[in-house]
Amino acid sequence: MFNLILFGPPGSGKGTQSENLIAKYHFKHLSTGDLLRSEISRKTPLGKEAKKFMDKGQLVPDEVVIGMISFALDEHPHAKGFLFDGFPRTSQQAEALDKLLELKDTAIEVMLALTVTEEELVTRLVKRGETSGRTDDNNEHVIRTRILEYHKKTSPVAEYYARDGKVVNIKGEGTIEEIFQALCDEIESRMRKSEKS
Ligand code: AP5
Ligand code: MG
Repeated sequence: MFNLILFGPPGSGKGTQSENLIAKYHFKHLSTGDLLRSEISRKTPLGKEAKKFMDKGQLVPDEVVIGMISFALDEHPHAKGFLFDGFPRTSQQAEALDKLLELKDTAIEVMLALTVTEEELVTRLVKRGETSGRTDDNNEHVIRTRILEYHKKTSPVAEYYARDGKVVNIKGEGTIEEIFQALCDEIESRMRKSEKS
């Protein structure tokens, strides 16, 4: 099993690149943002609770997202690998994920972290807000809160995985194709290493 985390601030291209990576490598895509938006559109109690936080640009409580991921992992016992997008987003989530994967006798192989300047993030998200219908995209104040939440609570997750030498920074600016190529090169080099060991 080969599991990876696609990491980066809001608007860094995690969703865009995940689509391409899944088409190429057939990972199971687990995006907590997508899972939460699906709960919201089905008007479930979990969705109603999560929406209060998401509309303000704040993180949803850890226990909610950890429960969701635990359920999703169990739903796909035969996956050849998982691509985590937008998760883990706090140190507590990272610790929980490591434990869940350990129960399945597997682990995170690599965290690919997309780096993009703050102004470019805001430009991309404001532009997407014109058409996306995402309530957290159509207000610059909410976009800036999401980026602040990222700096405060999410960036320590990269330090957590860096301790084990699992973090690789990838420049998230340039064409989608160039960034995709850089991600593929890193994944394939890690896959070769994990096959040898
Ligand atoms: P989530 O859905 O994860 O959103 P996010 O992190 O804010 O990131 P985005 O999806 O906005 O950006 P992205 O990095 O996927 O970029 P994309 O490819 O779309 O989370 C939403 C909310 O849910 C959170 O605020 C939180 O409340 C809650 N939540 C989710 N997970 C949680 C968790 N684990 N714990 C707690 N709460 C959680 O690209 C963005 C735009 O840029 C697009 O328009 C795209 O076309 C464009 N673009 C992409 N690449 C390029 C490029 N190379 N050049 C130019 N434009 C580009
Ligand atoms: Mg996304």
